[in-house]
Amino acid sequence: MKIFIDTAEIEEIKPLVELGLVDGVTTNPSLILKSGRNIFEVTKEICDLVDGPVSAEVASTDYKTMVEEAVALYNIADNVCLKVPMTPDGLKTCKYFSDQGKMVNVTLCFSAAQALLAAKAGASFISPFVGRHDDVGQSGMALIEEIRIIYDNYNFDTEILVASTRHNLHIIDSALIGADVATIPPKLVHQLFKHPLTDSGLAAFVADWEKTGQSITD
Ligand code: E4P
Repeated sequence: MKIFIDTAEIEEIKPLVELGLVDGVTTNPSLILKSGRNIFEVTKEICDLVDGPVSAEVASTDYKTMVEEAVALYNIADNVCLKVPMTPDGLKTCKYFSDQGKMVNVTLCFSAAQALLAAKAGASFISPFVGRHDDVGQSGMALIEEIRIIYDNYNFDTEILVASTRHNLHIIDSALIGADVATIPPKLVHQLFKHPLTDSGLAAFVADWEKTGQSITD
């Protein structure tokens, strides 16, 4: 499963790139607002830092303006993946650009029916929001299972990009189900490293090694 980083903060992405963990990045208008940066400047910096797709979202909701915004966003770098909302105008924009071989991520997906429509419009990625789904008392991971079955039934190329991830189980379950990508906030990536038995085991090894009086580098 690929890991995308869900942030527009350059300083959060850099150390994760150094760890070799970053297959792509997702941004949205709220993350751009949080970063306090200009969308063109920060998206360009992220695209230079990361080899994979960098999702940049349109701000308008009508087809004509979405297409104009899309052209401007695609011009930032070759690895820009346009992000459009799961609406008729969004899917029309998706089809227009996917027919030209451009990457499109359809966002704000909350049902398997929506995921089916996005795949038929040629989306490169569908973004079901599992955390927000859980928030309203529905199972985000059950939605991922349904989409996986539907896409496999018809051999759709659209990749399932699990979004709005909030905790370790969202990531583990995504991988067990066979989602193609999980986009993960940096804080949650760091949380994935942690296990109390790793910490206590390492502390014991360090203490025992000191008692040997040896050095590996001398
Ligand atoms: C990413 O593509 C989504 O916009 C993001 O994961 C949404 O996450 P949130 O529900 O925590 O805002």
